[in-house]
Amino acid sequence: MIRFVIFVCLTGFLVILSQGPVSAQDPAPVQMPATTPVPAVAKGSTCSITSCHRSIIGSEQPHAPVKERDCFACHQQKNKVHPLLGGKSWELKAKVPALCAECHDPFGKKKVMHPPVKEGDCLACHKPHGGSGRFLLNVGEDRTDLCLVCHDSAPFKQKFMHGPVAVGACNKCHDPHEAEAKGLLEGPVRNLCLKCHADFGKSLNESPVVHPPVKDGPCTACHNPHGSPVSKLLKKKMPDLCVECHVKIGKKLAGVKVPHKPLQQEGSCGSCHSPHYSQAKGLLPFDEITTCLRCHDKDNLGTPPLRNIKKELAGKKYLHGPIKKGECKACHDPHGSDNFRMLRGSYPASLYAPYKEGLYDACLACHEKNLLRFAETTIYTRFRNGNRNLHYLHVANSRKGRTCRVCHQPHASDGERLINKDGASFGDWKIPMNFKITPTGGGCLPGCHRAFKYDREKPVAY
Ligand code: HEC
Ligand code: HEC
Ligand code: HEC
Ligand code: HEC
Ligand code: HEC
Ligand code: HEC
Ligand code: HEC
Ligand code: HEC
Ligand code: HEC
Ligand code: HEC
Ligand code: HEC
Ligand code: HEC
Ligand code: HEC
Repeated sequence: MIRFVIFVCLTGFLVILSQGPVSAQDPAPVQMPATTPVPAVAKGSTCSITSCHRSIIGSEQPHAPVKERDCFACHQQKNKVHPLLGGKSWELKAKVPALCAECHDPFGKKKVMHPPVKEGDCLACHKPHGGSGRFLLNVGEDRTDLCLVCHDSAPFKQKFMHGPVAVGACNKCHDPHEAEAKGLLEGPVRNLCLKCHADFGKSLNESPVVHPPVKDGPCTACHNPHGSPVSKLLKKKMPDLCVECHVKIGKKLAGVKVPHKPLQQEGSCGSCHSPHYSQAKGLLPFDEITTCLRCHDKDNLGTPPLRNIKKELAGKKYLHGPIKKGECKACHDPHGSDNFRMLRGSYPASLYAPYKEGLYDACLACHEKNLLRFAETTIYTRFRNGNRNLHYLHVANSRKGRTCRVCHQPHASDGERLINKDGASFGDWKIPMNFKITPTGGGCLPGCHRAFKYDREKPVAY
């Protein structure tokens, strides 16, 4: 087929060129006036020789066939006259995307297609002749401007932006055309994240304790992949983020009578738990006691200040059973409770509180339930004079029942049976105990009364 290309030069003279068939045996390159700077000439090269369509070849990164001046690879003439007033003398050889598919593999082999690609709208992104950047795009490595022509820009203008998103490296995560997974991702979100966060992945694999949603689920359960008003790309701040799944703890936070301060403060759940993985049980950063004593190692924690528990435990001869086992949570609910001092059961706040059923559950959850029920006993306690139950005597006394703290330490003591060696606080004064234990009983000279002895086998007569 012979084609005639007519084109008008701005300088005003008309040149008619005859073009050979589009085949391997193209005629020899057309000879141009020596002054016209034209590189290796191909079919259609003349279209852009002059300034008529110079801009077409002028892009910084021209499309390969355009670089070759192969205009006819895509355009064909439908009218011999060119330019044609009020009409077109050229048409595309095929419609986009069929045109592109003549040289490029067509899309549609993967599960998820980007809608503009599916609709064949290649030119929504690509400039057919070339662009200012690579890939026939008018953007460089930063793809933000390209993508945000169609997408809402709000998610990409947050206070905290993800590194790769901030620099517009959308392609590091999304394929612009098609992909195997939802969101134009190559695979599960988790794998995608761990491709870059490789150190994180390594630590994750090496940790004995992993948070279930981190182990199996997408990281996007908690993180926004692009950006967030909350630091660390979190979807919400803690504790809201956590209690979305941990509903029970959420309810507790909302209504509890004795809340634990750190949960309501800046670090919230993160002040005790790692969100991802840990070496210690319960996603704690250290063993439980160390975790608690990170804060409870001060003399001035709280208003009014709480006792310094680290000091209270240090070097003590006797640790209370659960603490020996490494647990504070056996007695305290770290997330708060309705009881005095976040205890798991009722425990009076005052120095005097006569025994009533339920009142001392904080202790009787583990200890003999009948400790305080009978005035006489041979089995329920060793604190007795003969059969006389001295726990009953002291605690069940309806006028002046003494709480356990009058005699016992809750955490640790240098005295046997956790007897409070330093004495219980009575206002400004520490009531001394002077407790001595014997194989069958004991005795004390407390600040409350004269010296008394008790003996289980040979009761002391008073
Ligand atoms: C890879 C295919 C391809 C090649 C090669 C190609 N074009 Fe195009 N051209 C197109 C497509 C597709 C359009 C339609 C663009 C649109 O609709 O926005 C187009 C549009 C045009 C237009 C009209 C709109 C415009 O952008 O000004 C002109 C003029 C044009 N081409 C000239 C040329 C010239 C001259 C050459 C050779 C130097 C050339 N083309 C090479 C694909 C091609
Ligand atoms: C006549 C053949 C032909 C047609 C038709 C064609 N291309 Fe190309 N295209 C090429 C060649 C050749 C390359 C260079 C390939 C390479 O470098 O490996 C290329 C490269 C590209 C590139 C990569 C550019 C870069 O900077 O790496 C893109 C994007 C592209 N084409 C898009 C399109 C689109 C969109 C269409 C349809 C509008 C299209 N092509 C039509 C031949 C064609
Ligand atoms: C939503 C924008 C968008 C649309 C629509 C689009 N592309 Fe692309 N395309 C891109 C981007 C961005 C790249 C660069 C990919 C990269 O950075 O690795 C690209 C790269 C390419 C490449 C070269 C690299 C490769 O992946 O092979 C070809 C060829 C290509 N596109 C063809 C097409 C064709 C054909 C169509 C229409 C069926 C199309 N594109 C539609 C954005 C788009
Ligand atoms: C021509 C318009 C257009 C452009 C440009 C465009 N998109 Fe889209 N994109 C859409 C439409 C339409 C949808 C489907 C509706 C939606 O999710 O918003 C979509 C959906 C998506 C989705 C979700 C797909 C899914 O399966 O959930 C991703 C991811 C995406 N686009 C990424 C990009 C990226 C990255 C770019 C830039 C390289 C880009 N888009 C440019 C129109 C566009
Ligand atoms: C670090 C990886 C990563 C980068 C970089 C990234 N995205 Fe995403 N994007 C995702 C993930 C993950 C999703 C969620 C996919 C899912 O679960 O459906 C997503 C979802 C989307 C969606 C679907 C709608 C939505 O918000 O859920 C669009 C649109 C989108 N991204 C556009 C972009 C654009 C535009 C860029 C570049 C400015 C970009 N993304 C950069 C990972 C990324
Ligand atoms: C292309 C590589 C890449 C991918 C993929 C990637 N990230 Fe990132 N991410 C980074 C870089 C780079 C930083 C910044 C590192 C820094 O500041 O130390 C970062 C930082 C983060 C941060 C900390 C932000 C802060 O404010 O400190 C989080 C959280 C994060 N990424 C989560 C994710 C999640 C979730 C995914 C999967 C959806 C993901 N990343 C995928 C490269 C990546
Ligand atoms: C259960 C919610 C949750 C899940 C699921 C989750 N994260 Fe996080 N992530 C967080 C929280 C909370 C922080 C903030 C910790 C802080 O403030 O110290 C964080 C912080 C980060 C950080 C920045 C600080 C650091 O520890 O290096 C990166 C990176 C990160 N996450 C990556 C990931 C990746 C990758 C995944 C998926 C494998 C993932 N996250 C899954 C809750 C989660
Ligand atoms: C997407 C749901 C989800 C979110 C969000 C979530 N978790 Fe979990 N978490 C679970 C599941 C499921 C388990 C395992 C079952 C259980 O103990 O309830 C678990 C278990 C735990 C455990 C016990 C782990 C063990 O080994 O004993 C702790 C502690 C924990 N999560 C803390 C957090 C913290 C802190 C946050 C907020 C940063 C959080 N979770 C956010 C789902 C979630
Ligand atoms: C003061 C420290 C501390 C804070 C703050 C804290 N926890 Fe805990 N949490 C613990 C301890 C200690 C355990 C017991 C761990 C173990 O041995 O299993 C625990 C256990 C858990 C468990 C598993 C057992 C259960 O009770 O269901 C979940 C889930 C949990 N915490 C979630 C949270 C959430 C959500 C927050 C924030 C609202 C939070 N924690 C704040 C100390 C804390
Ligand atoms: C991040 C610091 C921090 C950690 C870790 C911590 N606490 Fe606390 N704790 C506090 C603060 C602050 C108070 C409140 C003091 C005040 O204002 O009254 C408090 C109060 C308490 C109270 C008294 C509550 C009341 O109001 O009567 C108990 C009991 C307690 N914590 C036990 C624990 C236990 C058990 C652990 C370990 C599971 C622990 N704490 C870990 C900071 C911490
Ligand atoms: C056997 C139960 C039990 C265990 C285990 C236990 N506590 Fe206590 N804790 C108590 C009781 C009972 C009180 C109330 C003491 C009082 O007011 O006389 C208390 C009080 C406290 C107080 C408030 C102190 C004050 O000034 O009133 C803190 C703080 C505390 N415990 C922290 C801890 C920590 C940290 C651990 C783990 C090392 C722990 N507890 C283990 C029973 C226990
Ligand atoms: C979570 C269970 C638990 C709770 C709650 C508990 N204890 Fe204990 N207690 C123990 C264990 C275990 C021992 C060690 C028993 C042993 O060594 O035979 C112990 C030992 C004692 C001893 C010393 C007994 C001995 O034979 O030396 C006294 C006194 C004591 N507890 C008092 C209390 C008081 C007072 C409370 C309430 C404030 C309390 N306990 C709450 C588990 C608990
Ligand atoms: C007046 C001081 C005093 C009070 C108040 C007191 N105890 Fe005791 N308790 C003792 C003495 C003394 C022993 C040691 C008995 C022995 O082994 O000879 C003891 C022993 C114990 C024992 C070890 C088992 C047993 O009964 O011999 C437990 C458990 C115990 N007390 C719990 C409590 C609880 C719980 C309270 C508060 C409800 C309490 N005590 C109140 C003085 C007291």
